[in-house]
Amino acid sequence: MSSKSKHITEYKLAKEILTRGHDVILDPKAQVMKTFTQHGKTTVFEHCVSVAKFSLLMAYYLEEKFNIKVDRDSLVRAALLHDYFLYDWHDKTIPGHNIHGFTHPRTAMLNADRDFGLNKIEKDIISKHMFPLTFMPPRYRESVLVTLADKWCALCETFKVDVSSYIIYRVNAHIARANQEAESEAIPAEQAI
Ligand SMILES: [Fe+2]
Ligand SMILES: [Fe+2]
Repeated sequence: MSSKSKHITEYKLAKEILTRGHDVILDPKAQVMKTFTQHGKTTVFEHCVSVAKFSLLMAYYLEEKFNIKVDRDSLVRAALLHDYFLYDWHDKTIPGHNIHGFTHPRTAMLNADRDFGLNKIEKDIISKHMFPLTFMPPRYRESVLVTLADKWCALCETFKVDVSSYIIYRVNAHIARANQEAESEAIPAEQAI
């Protein structure tokens, strides 16, 4: 009996996130999320990368085992931006600090739409990712995947279980390489002046 099962590796997940989330990952505006802590010692940026990984992992299983199609471009982009609220939610001086859990999905969605432009699936993914804390249920299967991945990652981060160091390493290496290339391209122009 032949098996159609394809082995899903960390390498493959990383490659797909870097491809589908390229514009978000390399944008300095998204990298601002590196300056805020999410859970434990994990930054918001690292948390979003981790959520993208587990959302994509579930998408693979849905497609492979049940032949259910997933919009992976929207899935990855929105997972990377799902907590793009751009403030330190631990800071008690921030207005609305106490209701961050309820309000940040909409804030993140509005910020992400302003800075990156979102389609209707991406908007739904980001604005519903805290369900059932926020009452409106996810409309699309991609939104359900990110909602589940978000809770799993939050749990791992809170209890300091390392599940995403490889993907985070790959993403940071990708950013560093892109920055180096940009710098080396800029040197001849500077020298010419
Ligand atoms: Fe969130
Ligand atoms: Fe999150």
